[in-house]
Amino acid sequence: MARKSKKRRRRRTLFLGIILLVGLIGYFTYDIINNNQKKLVKLGYSDEEIRIIIDHVSIKDMKVLLNDEYQEDYLEIIKDNNFKQNMMDSYIDYYKKYNDALIKDIVYLINNNIDEPYTKTLSEMINNSDFTLSNIDKYLNYHKQNPKADTVGIILIVNNNIDKPYSNSLVNIIKETYFISSKLDRYIKYQDKNPQLKSNEVVTNINSNLDYNFYTNIQNADVSKKHLILVNKYYKIDKEYTSDNLVSMDLKYTYNFGELDKDTYEAFKKMADDAAKKELYIKGRSAYRAYNTQSYIYTSYLNNYGYVWAENYSARPGHSEHQTGLALDIGSNNSEDLGNFEATPEFKWVKDNAHKYGFILRYPKDKEYITGYSYEPWHYRYVGIDVATKIYELNLTFEEYYAFFLENK
Ligand code: DAL
Ligand code: ZN
Repeated sequence: MARKSKKRRRRRTLFLGIILLVGLIGYFTYDIINNNQKKLVKLGYSDEEIRIIIDHVSIKDMKVLLNDEYQEDYLEIIKDNNFKQNMMDSYIDYYKKYNDALIKDIVYLINNNIDEPYTKTLSEMINNSDFTLSNIDKYLNYHKQNPKADTVGIILIVNNNIDKPYSNSLVNIIKETYFISSKLDRYIKYQDKNPQLKSNEVVTNINSNLDYNFYTNIQNADVSKKHLILVNKYYKIDKEYTSDNLVSMDLKYTYNFGELDKDTYEAFKKMADDAAKKELYIKGRSAYRAYNTQSYIYTSYLNNYGYVWAENYSARPGHSEHQTGLALDIGSNNSEDLGNFEATPEFKWVKDNAHKYGFILRYPKDKEYITGYSYEPWHYRYVGIDVATKIYELNLTFEEYYAFFLENK
């Protein structure tokens, strides 16, 4: 019995002790808050401001505030979305050192431990959407070396890891949609040589290799790209190269014997069948050509029509897409003559629908300087539906598309 009541007594004492302790803590907290409140009032803070301060700042921050004078801007710091507790002294130090600094900049700089003098440039940098914190030293360094450089340019140059002196044309080139950083030296050289060209023209031309004359600097086509292989005046395929997937075309789909890559043929059949549903009739005119066939065509053009004509309308052997089995000249039923194809309703339909089947008009009007060939309304190249649709929508040549989206990928 006695033991039980002793235990109970001890428990009661403990209970009362806890109550007392909680009460004391509450009292002192209340007292501290009350005191702080009084001090803040004295400093000149309004009730509303005091409420914000008490809600947001830590004991340490409170001490800093109480040891300072009233400053409306301190409230702005506290209300900033990125305000961090226990940093009030650093914010205030920076604020006092650079009183023209934007509050949000102060908070950002202190939060990220950026110990730099406040300048308009620094502010522009940290507020640029492409600003990358880890590059800050590089931006500032670049700015020191190129004091006239604008912030947007500096960020672009540094983010692209470019080690070149600042110029407006350099920045304009980097900003281009189809800018490829590995081609930078060529862009710069080409722009210097052709100052009248706009930056988009410089990028397009270099991406299409136009800093070299046609049939110079020739490289092997990347056959691993399969149906996305680029064969043109800069990329050749071997004499022996043949698609391993050639199939014969049914005479329903070709004027005379023809072979095509199997996927290309399937796509063409679909396209021709759909066209027929609209009473438009298309047929293949010239499909796969072996190296020797191409050689024969080129030579006969040369002999019959001369060098310029041959170069504009025929690839030299080893440089024709026809050798890949992925290209096809299309004629209309009304006219086997390719020269008349453009004037037919069939052409109008094919031009706007070929991409849905995976074909692109390979040598478009106004892009002769890129492709190296005269406009050929009849020549289509299979690249698959996705790529064909993108090329159609972006209004690119395969040369431009290949450089940006496929080469080195
Ligand atoms: N007519 C195209 C350019 C060729 O010969 O391949
Ligand atoms: Zn052709």
